[in-house]
Amino acid sequence: MTKTPWFLLLLLLFILASAAATQIKVTNNPADELVAALNNNRTAHKMKSLYDNPGLACIALQYVKAYQGDCGAVGGPNAEKPAESEFAETFAPNCGVLVSTLSPITGRLLGCQSHYADPSEAFLDILMKNNKSLEIVYNKNHTEVGAAVSGTDGGGPYFWFLLFSSGNTSSSFALEGGVAKLTRPGCFSGANDDCSSAYDWSQTRRVWPFVATALLVIGYAFRF
Ligand SMILES: *[C@@H]1O[C@H](CO)[C@@H](O)[C@H](O)[C@H]1NC(C)=O
Ligand SMILES: *[C@@H]1O[C@H](CO)[C@@H](O)[C@H](O)[C@H]1NC(C)=O
Ligand SMILES: *[C@@H]1O[C@H](CO)[C@@H](O)[C@H](O)[C@H]1NC(C)=O
Ligand SMILES: *[C@@H]1O[C@H](CO)[C@@H](O)[C@H](O)[C@H]1NC(C)=O
Repeated sequence: MTKTPWFLLLLLLFILASAAATQIKVTNNPADELVAALNNNRTAHKMKSLYDNPGLACIALQYVKAYQGDCGAVGGPNAEKPAESEFAETFAPNCGVLVSTLSPITGRLLGCQSHYADPSEAFLDILMKNNKSLEIVYNKNHTEVGAAVSGTDGGGPYFWFLLFSSGNTSSSFALEGGVAKLTRPGCFSGANDDCSSAYDWSQTRRVWPFVATALLVIGYAFRF
């Protein structure tokens, strides 16, 4: 009889721990969330979901890093972008992507903002803010996408990037050994990795509800 509370407590902790683990797995990478926002928007327009390619996404993060935190170079009169040759010479090797599997880039959407936004807001408010963005997002030639989110020196500005390709989803941007090289800081999509380096404060905010719930339930369980 005296063992019952402990059994219940362990069971509750187990349930809470799995709930927390599941939650964090799904929400802990802003680049994966950005791809989800994009694909939700495409499917709402009766277009197919794009494959989230980790090799392409790793290259997207390298592309963003080439800006070295210079938000002013992203748009406007002083807009710049990395040279095309960088894909094969720098980005692919840094990611472990086989250069022979690089495939055509069919679109890019890059935005930058001083403060952190929720990925779905970033998609709508930063990346979708002009008509050209709509054309890019709804282009029928894309088959796959890679997303990157990166802050600068642990803070803003934050870069949000979607890189589209018409490559073969089963063979393009192939990774040496099949695994993407994680190139922190910054987050990229498709690799099933937890990544919170772009938004540490937000991470803390998300964990609190679980801690509070766990304390409440444990408090209750001890009254047996
Ligand atoms: C998709 O994006 C467009 C353009 O920003 C927006 O008007 C529309 O509401 C979005 N649709 C969904 C389902 O989010
Ligand atoms: C987008 O296109 C609509 C209709 O073609 C036009 O009225 C509007 O001014 C455009 N907006 C921008 C930001 O270019
Ligand atoms: C799709 O690809 C074809 C062939 O490369 C090209 O002619 C066409 O302009 C592309 N369409 C769009 C919307 O980019
Ligand atoms: C895609 O790549 C796979 C594996 O290399 C190949 O079997 C398939 O035929 C390719 N599909 C297209 C449409 O090229």
